Amino acid sequence: MKALVLIGGFGTRLRPVTYSVPKQLIPIAGKPMLYHVLDMLPPTIEQAVLATGYKADVIARYVEEHPPKVPVRMVAETEPLGTGGGMRNAGGDMSDPFLLMNSDVIAGFDVTALLARQTEHGGIGTMTLVEVEDPSPYGVAELDATDRILRFVEKPTREEAPSRWINAGLGAWKREVIGRIPDGAPVSWEQQVVPGLLADRVYAFRATGFWEDAGTPDRLLRAQRYLFEAGRAGRRTSIPTGTTGNGPVAVDPSATVEGATFGGSVTVSAHVVVGPRAYLEDCVILERATIEAGASVVHSIVGPRARVRAGHRVSHQVLGEAAEA
Ligand code: GDD
Ligand code: MG
Repeated sequence: MKALVLIGGFGTRLRPVTYSVPKQLIPIAGKPMLYHVLDMLPPTIEQAVLATGYKADVIARYVEEHPPKVPVRMVAETEPLGTGGGMRNAGGDMSDPFLLMNSDVIAGFDVTALLARQTEHGGIGTMTLVEVEDPSPYGVAELDATDRILRFVEKPTREEAPSRWINAGLGAWKREVIGRIPDGAPVSWEQQVVPGLLADRVYAFRATGFWEDAGTPDRLLRAQRYLFEAGRAGRRTSIPTGTTGNGPVAVDPSATVEGATFGGSVTVSAHVVVGPRAYLEDCVILERATIEAGASVVHSIVGPRARVRAGHRVSHQVLGEAAEA
């Protein structure tokens, strides 16, 4: 079986860091988001096809240098085709059924159970749904008593949302859906394709447990905390020798952190320099950034080569590449 992973978005809600780093390569709990997403694939998946677009070359280079456990093939769009267009462009040789995945979904789901549900009901597809407090930023489903999806509305207002059950960005679909996507123009899978598939029976796989779309700063940092707590970090999580405070942290061995204090849930990337008495909590620091002596970074993302000046406090911020704070 194959998985189709959509990875071509602009990551607008994580700007300015995504001006230089594609969202999927932002490290959380010690490794890029994309690798956590690929970790969720069960062993029955023999290949993941990555439908890339924005910064496809950056992703391709990284993936070639750091081969994931599952074999991957990348298919890049020359212009943004939307989620449906990306599926059409890259999904030419999908298995039947295939797994469809957004590349910013961090969850503790049983993907094997999702695939079993698809085989069991025999409809055209199965969408994993999770229940959330505010469904308006997501795709929302209306269900009947058998958990068949009757209606699907992408990003409705809170009042218009037919339920609080939303598309978790993970589904199992028959191969024929690829041929149902219009060719030659940008297409939104969620808005323009899924509603037309409902007549061919799409069922919900209601998932419980942790789920997060790591596409905004708050949600990304929440996903990072979960990955640490779930023991899914990319490297050791105790604080390095010569530092104080508490973990979990994921500090690249090439980083200099002597004398720093940690407050938990922190990723420090390669060649970062953290000065003495600096304090880091609930944050992601990208490669070659500098956090000077006595500075603090809390609930924030610091871009590559950015600099936080001595004694300065960064809180609830996203700093882009080479930014100064
Ligand atoms: N190849 C390609 N081309 N991929 C794209 C494109 C494109 O033009 N646009 C977006 N993507 C990728 C993104 O990189 C991401 O992995 C995925 O498609 C979904 O895009 P997002 O921008 O993250 O969408 P969203 O979070 O607003 O909404 C989607 O995810 C929600 C759950 O997290 C929808 O699928 C919602 O229905 C869903 O509830
Ligand atoms: Mg998203």
